[in-house]
Amino acid sequence: MSFFDNLPTPPKKSKLQFWQHFYQGFRPTHNTEFTIENYPDLSGKVCVITGMNTGIGFEVVDILLSKNCNVYGVVRTDSKGLKAKEELLKRNPETKGSLEIISGCDLSNFDSVVETGLKLQDKLKDKTINIVLHNAGLMSNFNDRSNSNGIELMFATNVMGPQLLQSYIDPLFLKKDDLIKRIVWVSSCAHMVAPDFFGFNEKDPKYLEINSRPNSGILYGQSKACNILQAKAYALKHDTEKYGIISTSVFPGILTTELARDYPRFVQYAWSKMFYTPKFGAISELYACFYPQLKSGDYIVPFGKTETPRTDIDAALTNGVCLKFWDYIQNEIKDFIPKN
Ligand SMILES: NC(=O)c1ccc[n+]([C@@H]2O[C@H](COP(=O)([O-])OP(=O)(O)OC[C@H]3O[C@@H](n4cnc5c(N)ncnc54)[C@H](OP(=O)(O)O)[C@@H]3O)[C@@H](O)[C@H]2O)c1
Repeated sequence: MSFFDNLPTPPKKSKLQFWQHFYQGFRPTHNTEFTIENYPDLSGKVCVITGMNTGIGFEVVDILLSKNCNVYGVVRTDSKGLKAKEELLKRNPETKGSLEIISGCDLSNFDSVVETGLKLQDKLKDKTINIVLHNAGLMSNFNDRSNSNGIELMFATNVMGPQLLQSYIDPLFLKKDDLIKRIVWVSSCAHMVAPDFFGFNEKDPKYLEINSRPNSGILYGQSKACNILQAKAYALKHDTEKYGIISTSVFPGILTTELARDYPRFVQYAWSKMFYTPKFGAISELYACFYPQLKSGDYIVPFGKTETPRTDIDAALTNGVCLKFWDYIQNEIKDFIPKN
């Protein structure tokens, strides 16, 4: 018996859609109608963002500071976070906002996620949280890496860790206390290569059995498909409409960040030369944070446009599968989620 027995049959995937999605990565839409100038002033607003010491997250924080936001940057390594903070404050000497680094959060290590969640609760009590950006992510070149619980590393880092961290943010976030209330789950066009069954391996998304694992691209794709499911399920599970919260997923673009750091040097070289700069990815993520006409479950593509995800994953957003998937993760992390 698997947790996912008796689910509907997924609709067929479309080859055309596959190519369309990857094409969008290389030839994105430049949204000229909704740009940085259109973002509101963020004085007094609070954003929690993971993985902001480099790449897209770093650029997101740069723009948020230029808009006077108070940012809580959740990072894994203290020294990397502090270095990023120094650079970001140098870039934004006039900001009326602030940047606090919360370090020591390894999203693949659930004990460390719990510790970070408790730290956040302590720092943010009495504050309104306006934006939560689950930006941190791992794209490994290896399919045999696991966390200390034997869970495939990208699934633990990109899917389980963020959902666990969110359970600590929720008591402070799930409130109708401001007009700007957004949560963003960073996904990718790589969701197009995720497993056929609604984007995840219905027998065991954690791939505990290393020999059963497909290549690392499919594993990364699975984790990014799950981010799309999480965005919609989060909204449904928490009835976010009543708080004015909008929960979306974003493919930020194909960008020259450190994401390919695990790959051979020539891939890293190509990655650093061929694609758009991470600032464009920040624009995609911030579109999800500020574009007024979005609704929960929307999937955003570069650099600021909504799109339909892969057919079966899109179906999972309305046929109950995304909720089942959310329940699965909740069950897997039940020993770590807050008791109150
Ligand atoms: N760049 C692209 O072309 C692209 C395309 C589609 C989607 N994305 C998505 O965009 C997001 C940001 O990626 P990026 O391109 O900016 O990559 P990046 O430059 O490699 O940054 C990734 C961030 O995630 C953090 N991170 C990785 N593993 C972690 C863990 N176990 N615990 C905590 N933090 C961890 C990294 O921290 P450390 O520095 O400490 O490792 C870093 O801050 C990711 O979710 C990625 O999947 C990127």
